[in-house]
Amino acid sequence: MSILLTGGAGYIGSHTAVELLQLNKDVIILDNFSNSSPLVLDRIKEITGKSFKFYELDLLDKKNLEKVFIDNNVDSIIHFAGYKAVGESVDKPLDYYTNNIISTLNLLELMKKYNIKNFVFSSSATVYGNPDKCPINENSPLRATNPYGQTKLMIENILKDISKSDASLNIAILRYFNPVGAHKSGLIGEDPNGIPNNLLPYISQVAVGNLDKLKVFGDDYNTHDGTGVRDYIHVVDLAKGHIKSLDKLNTKCGLVIYNLGTGNGYSVLEMVDAFREASKREISYEIVKRRQGDIAICYADCTKANRELDWQAEYGIKDMCIDSWNWQVNNPKGYK
Ligand code: NAD
Ligand code: UFG
Repeated sequence: MSILLTGGAGYIGSHTAVELLQLNKDVIILDNFSNSSPLVLDRIKEITGKSFKFYELDLLDKKNLEKVFIDNNVDSIIHFAGYKAVGESVDKPLDYYTNNIISTLNLLELMKKYNIKNFVFSSSATVYGNPDKCPINENSPLRATNPYGQTKLMIENILKDISKSDASLNIAILRYFNPVGAHKSGLIGEDPNGIPNNLLPYISQVAVGNLDKLKVFGDDYNTHDGTGVRDYIHVVDLAKGHIKSLDKLNTKCGLVIYNLGTGNGYSVLEMVDAFREASKREISYEIVKRRQGDIAICYADCTKANRELDWQAEYGIKDMCIDSWNWQVNNPKGYK
């Protein structure tokens, strides 16, 4: 029985592949490398000493996608693949709706045809939009504020509908908060294309000298130092949350939804300080105006995942910054 990881060459998928392989699970990775590098596959093998099947394939290519299901005995799917840049989704909404939604529909149709029961979906805290209060629990109101968030919300709704129509399906919707950090080996990590949109990759590229200075988007939020507060979670903790979710699905739980975060919020300036400490490098920054669409504070209530999955994030921001830096300094140009 195999676990299919769509988007398994990506940032979160590659870390999850490592954790699964280290547990001797039978892993199949599928990716079209639209936002990742083939080198990732060698790195996963180097870390784990394990082999796995790989398909270079676009999920939109349903005909060839079906071959994966014909050739393998797939038991569970973890669906990471998708486009994820908020700003880009505003400029190219059709690309986002097509890639994220049609890909998922193709997978779900084949899942039905080949009688696969277990499905884990990479959702995002973005489905909470600008939350009424923090910490945010899973019952908080859902609202999307950009096309990327809309795709996550639409897919969540599709999953809820198919779960209602077929009680034998087991589906975990995982709402990630802000994934950062890298594997301890420094062999895999986050490798954004071009100038990073997200805070930690930007800071680490300033530290390594690829970028001049960080632009801090606003210091006039209603937070303790005026800068935005987020719930940063180590990618290895996140990966382990997927393993626990698969265990949960094997109890035939139907549809379940979990926040995966740490429950702690840190400001932009706190992250800059933590990274300076970890890297022992100067991080120049300037305060600029707020980024459109940003919210002041976002952090998770993770008690449901603690209780029902027996999962809790173990790493704090010190480890997150040390591991991000270790990856960055060993791979100053990423996988290039
Ligand atoms: P990533 O871009 O590193 O990984 C996604 C992978 O999917 C890439 O390797 C890409 O090449 C592949 N892919 C995209 N479209 C594909 C297609 N049509 N067919 C085959 N492969 C395709 O992103 P990530 O950070 O690892 O995120 C994984 C998932 O988690 C995404 O769905 C993302 O929306 C979600 N998520 C990410 C974050 C974050 O901040 N990283 C936060 C919340 C949710
Ligand atoms: N920030 C800066 N300068 C930068 C980048 C970010 O000051 O160059 C600030 C932002 O204003 C925010 C914080 O750093 O206060 C975090 O910003 P990120 O872009 O790293 O993360 P977001 O919380 O804005 O969004 C991320 C993903 C979304 C996802 C969300 C919740 O980009 O796709 O986390 O998971 F939905």
